[in-house]
Amino acid sequence: MHRLILGIETSCDETAVAVFDAQKKRMLSSCLFSQIDEHALYGGVVPEIASRSQLEKINEITQEALLQAKTSLNNIDVIAVTNKPGLAGSLLVGVSFAKALAWSLNKPLIGVNHLEGHIFSSFLCQDGSVNDELQFPFIAQSASGGHTALYLVHDFGKYEVIGETIDDAAGELFDKVAKMLGHGYPGGATIERLAKETKFKDFFNYPRTKKSKHEIFYSFSGLKTAVLYDLANKGMYDLKQGPILANITEEIKQQVSSSLLVCVTDIFEQNITHALKRYPEVTSFSFVGGVACNHYMKERFSQLAQKYNKKFFSSPPRFSTDNGGMIAFVGSYKATQNKFSDLSLDILDKPNNK
Ligand code: KG4
Ligand code: ZN
Repeated sequence: MHRLILGIETSCDETAVAVFDAQKKRMLSSCLFSQIDEHALYGGVVPEIASRSQLEKINEITQEALLQAKTSLNNIDVIAVTNKPGLAGSLLVGVSFAKALAWSLNKPLIGVNHLEGHIFSSFLCQDGSVNDELQFPFIAQSASGGHTALYLVHDFGKYEVIGETIDDAAGELFDKVAKMLGHGYPGGATIERLAKETKFKDFFNYPRTKKSKHEIFYSFSGLKTAVLYDLANKGMYDLKQGPILANITEEIKQQVSSSLLVCVTDIFEQNITHALKRYPEVTSFSFVGGVACNHYMKERFSQLAQKYNKKFFSSPPRFSTDNGGMIAFVGSYKATQNKFSDLSLDILDKPNNK
């Protein structure tokens, strides 16, 4: 049996490494370095800075994860690494590092899809244990800065997309609106904090996605534009120069944030409701990805679950934003399924070699 799985995640602006014990079903460590401060100055992730920072940190974070797990590289049985999707330069650092480890230690390598990592973080608990109450099939709502999709999850490694965003991701929307209000990156937690001040009231009734009955998809770019023009009309945003900070009051920040959060949650709720009706065999749904740090959304989804007599789970904060734990966990079941990669593992899908 492959007992200890090293999980490496470098798809964006986090250098994250974890050790998962497949026998004890326990995350022994999950360490990361977040580059947020390095990108904050630019208002978003700068790919060149991200990949350079990955390179500087990967060794140190790996050592830290091994130390915290009270183990060493020689005891690791499998090296799992995110190989897509993500920023090419950042992904290459993790994949090259993982390949070098696998080759030099003569250990098997497993490439993991980042989105699969988020989906199966549904099973991870804050204390590092594995949630054994969650049963297949379930619905997973994943939302982060780079992606937003709803999945029907059949088994470990078996899932299908049942709805996704046709433009921006939900976290990206929060980040962009926070920026319009003069706040830094990332903006999701800021939007939540401001919204809480007005007790999550809907002041502006921003447009909800219009769709025909039972359709499942997300679209946030029109909503972003609606907020932008609303701020411009109020004299708080200059379409060429950006936010007019002198005119943006604390009150308006709270009202915009609160209206936005309620609107986005309504959009999610509508899609999840359609999915629960479409797949009555599902007994649970889970909320994962960076946006799943949001307490208001979790509370609303938990109430929705109750209404439909389903169990609700969400990834805990340490396994919601990008982390190595979810990659190690996926690596653990892929190892039991014999889904190993070889040293030609790449960050790109190869076209059919015809
Ligand atoms: O999963 P993640 O770390 O990175 C990607 O894979 O994209 O997610 C980061 C995203 C950011 O857009 C951030 O604003 C959002 O998660 N986020 C939140 C909250 N905390 C982080 N969004 C809403 N409410 C929060 N409390
Ligand atoms: Zn992610």
